[in-house]
Parts: sequence; structure tokens; C-alpha cells
Amino acid sequence: MPTARVTADPSFVVGPINRRLFGSFIEHMGRAVYTGIYEPEHPTADEEGFRQDVIELVKELGVTGIRYPGGNFVSGFHWRDGIGPKDQRPRRLSLAWRATETNQVGLHEFASWVQKVDGELMYAVNLGTADTRDSLQVVEYANIPKGSTLADERIANGRTSPFGIKMWYLGNEMDGPWQLGHSPADDYAKKASRTAKALRQLDPQVELVASGSSHPTMPTFPYWDRVVLEHTYDDVDYISCHGYYEEKNGDLGSFLAAPVKMDRYLDTVIATADYVKAAKRSEKTLNISFDEWNVWYLGDNLRQFPRQADRFYRTDEIEGNDWPEAPRLAEDVYSVADAVVVGGLLISLLRHADRVTSASMSMLVNVIAPITTEPGGPAWRQTTYYPFAVTSRLAAGVALDVRVESGQYSTEELGSVPLVDAVATHDAEGGRAAVFLVNRSLAEEITVTVNVGALGNLSLLESHMISDPDVYARNTKDVPDRVRLKSNPTASLANGVLTVTLPPVSWTAVALSKPKA
Ligand code: AHR
Repeated sequence: MPTARVTADPSFVVGPINRRLFGSFIEHMGRAVYTGIYEPEHPTADEEGFRQDVIELVKELGVTGIRYPGGNFVSGFHWRDGIGPKDQRPRRLSLAWRATETNQVGLHEFASWVQKVDGELMYAVNLGTADTRDSLQVVEYANIPKGSTLADERIANGRTSPFGIKMWYLGNEMDGPWQLGHSPADDYAKKASRTAKALRQLDPQVELVASGSSHPTMPTFPYWDRVVLEHTYDDVDYISCHGYYEEKNGDLGSFLAAPVKMDRYLDTVIATADYVKAAKRSEKTLNISFDEWNVWYLGDNLRQFPRQADRFYRTDEIEGNDWPEAPRLAEDVYSVADAVVVGGLLISLLRHADRVTSASMSMLVNVIAPITTEPGGPAWRQTTYYPFAVTSRLAAGVALDVRVESGQYSTEELGSVPLVDAVATHDAEGGRAAVFLVNRSLAEEITVTVNVGALGNLSLLESHMISDPDVYARNTKDVPDRVRLKSNPTASLANGVLTVTLPPVSWTAVALSKPKA
């Protein structure tokens, strides 16, 4: 049986783990909002119409910041459509997703929901069809305590205290030809710079994200990111990354190596940001907001042309109503292999914790999501729910720069990559540590020894694993618990060495803690 060795040492720190790394994303797309989080007729709905079964699952998932309201949707959205008395809100056509938006959930409702799930609201402004003035107005409405017409309008609409939104995204995927208002890099960059300066003038507390490339396969990557940062470096706090991964042509080996792609993508964006830093002789280091990431069976063609998404992805009947409300869109059903990849992508994000200080798994409910609901029916956990929930709960303190010695395997897409991937986290003050591991071998178990002696006198607290003889097993409405988290019974700790055997195509997390006094 192949073996691997991992060494975790508290002296080799990547960086502190920002809780925002475990963020998520809700867009007005498909059934993410309507019949996802909001369904007034549902038996579990609360007084505001939010599904409490979903609230409970979101809380258990441990998400932190939640980006809203899009996505491609935001480039055609006017923030005012979602405020004021619900019965007077306009019905609009969402061009991005060819649907009718009823605006029954807007800023006030969503902020209230975010509070119910103990999250932080993060907001994207429209820099596609709208201009700097619109961004200024929504920030004034949301964040200025009182005394201006817009702030007082918010109060009249029932919210006395400001929403206090810190994180603002300057548009979405503006490099994409599918985006409403898509423009050349320097047009967007100038608009983003002007808008950022104006927003800071209004509210100096805001944190701002410039829209980076929408995927590393974009023909303008990383030129777009360089040009955007050349114009906005002094104005923004983050550049965004988006990355979706999928198994193509039955090539599971390459798919399992998706975190290697994420590593390379991040390394390129970091190098681009640091190039601009050097060119500007700047003291400031720019961070990354990886504000859309997940497994998504989108297909390369479709990624370039999301406006066609209804043709490919809608599973309900569209005849007779070409602009339906809340159509079933992109409701991917995830497998064990997908969950292993999600666990690996979280390892990659933690490995870059010094620079990736905010991230959003895209999305949260129904649309490419870890939680699925049935209108009027149940809500359940997809396979991908588990690695996210466990990593969010166990990864604390700092991420450690571990050394992994493992065999390699050959992939079509990425050449030779390691069979075992790992990261460790260490919370010295709290007396706890965690190790997250993936075995990418399609056929063989691998026994890994993790040298954790330097982390102090720790004992084994808990272990969790996603693994199944059928790597394509999935959870469905009828069998919602086909795939669950199991403990890894092989995990043992002796003399500062953690030993654990990883089944083929599996993800494992092991938590260690100081023995109780
Ligand atoms: O997350 C779904 C869509 O994917 C978003 O609207 C867009 O930003 C990305 O292309």
C-alpha cells in the first residue's frame, strides 16, 4: 500500500485564517431565493416568509459572509426595485437568467435573513448598466445612520439602524462578454476606480473588491487583472477570483486535481497583484476575494454563454412562459467525488490564507449549492455540504505551510500531480489543531503519517471522512442521506505522529486538541 508523509510545524505559518474564508453567495438566480430561502407558503416559514428548515441547515453549515444579490443578475438590477412596500415593487425581467424577478426579497428582507443565519451581508453594486451615482445611493441608503433623504427613507422603510455593510463588490465578471455592460479592461477599471473613490468619500469604512477575471480560461486572463489593478490598486482592498470545476469526458483523475488548478490560478493572480504593487512602488499588499468557487457542471461552451443557460439547464417546462418566476436552473446534484473536490478546494484556499482573506462558495441553496429544497417539501444536505461544514468548524487560528511527501499520478489536464493533498491549521491559544487530507488515487488506499509533535501535547478529538465505494453516489429527495459524513476509524495518534489511512477518492479531517486538565 502506498504511503505519504506530512509534517506540520507551528513555525511555518502561511497566515491567519480569516473567518470570511467560509463565506457563501446568494444570487437572484433560479430557486436560490424564491422556494430556496424564501417561501411564505412553506410549513416551516417564519413570520417573514423564510424557510426555517433552510435557516437551520445554513447555520449548521457554518457560513460567514454572504455575497448578494448577484452574480450576473446584478448587472441588470436596480437596488431600489427591492425596497419599499412589497405590493408596490416592480416585476422586472432578469436578462441574465431569462426570468421574471418579483422583488419580494430585497435588501431589507435579505439583511434580516442574514442575521437569522448569523452571517455578514456583503453587497455587489451594479457597474454593468448602472453608474457611480447608483452605487453611491445604495451605500448611502444602507450605511448612513440618518439625516439624508436616502437614510431617512431606509428608516421609513422600517430599518432604524444602518445595515453597516462593510464589503462591497464593484460589479461582477465585467470581463465576460455575457455580462450586461461588459467593457474593455481599462473602461471598467476607470469606472471602478471612480466609483471606489466616491464610495470611500461617503463611507470610509467600506472594503472594496475590484472585479477580476471570471475564470483563468478567459482569453483576457491575466491581462484583465493587471489593467484593472493598474487603475484601482490604491482604491480597492481586494481583487476577485472566480473558479468553477467539473469532471469532463469521464476524466476523474484530472477532476480530482482541480485544487492544483486553483493553486496555479491563485499564484498567477497573486503574482499579477504583486507586479502592480512593485510597479507602483506601493507599500500596500492586495488581498484576494475568491467570491465564486465550486464544482459546477457547466461545460466550457456554456460558461462563455450563460444567457443560453435556460436552454440547457432549465428542467421545468418553459413553453408558454419564456420569462418564468424562479425556474429550476443549475440544480446540480453532487456526488462523493464532487465532495472530495470541494474538500480539496478548501485545502487550496487555506493554503493561500495569507492572501485569500475572503471567499464565497457559489452558491448556498438550490443553484449549484450544498443545500437543496423542494417547494412545499423537504430541504436536505448535498454531499458537498459536509466538507464545507467540517472545515468551517475545525479550521482555526493559522494555516500551516505543511510539507507533503507523496507519490504522484499522471493527469491529462495537469501532468503529474501529488496523490495526497493536505493542509493543517493550528490555534495555539485555543489548544487545537486540524489536518485536512485528500487521497486522489482512484484505486489505492494510502496510509499517511502526519508529524504533529511540534504542535505540542495534543490528543485526537474527532475524525470525519467522505468516502464511498460508489464515487458517484449522491443524495436526492428520496434518499437524502445516501452519502453522509463518517468517522475515519483508522486515525490514531502516538508519540506526536498521527497515522490515518485514506480510502481511494476520499476526503478526511482530523481534529486534535490539548488534553483537558
Ligand atoms: O454563480 C452563477 C453565475 O456564475 C454568476 O451569476 C456569475 O457571476 C458566474 O458566471
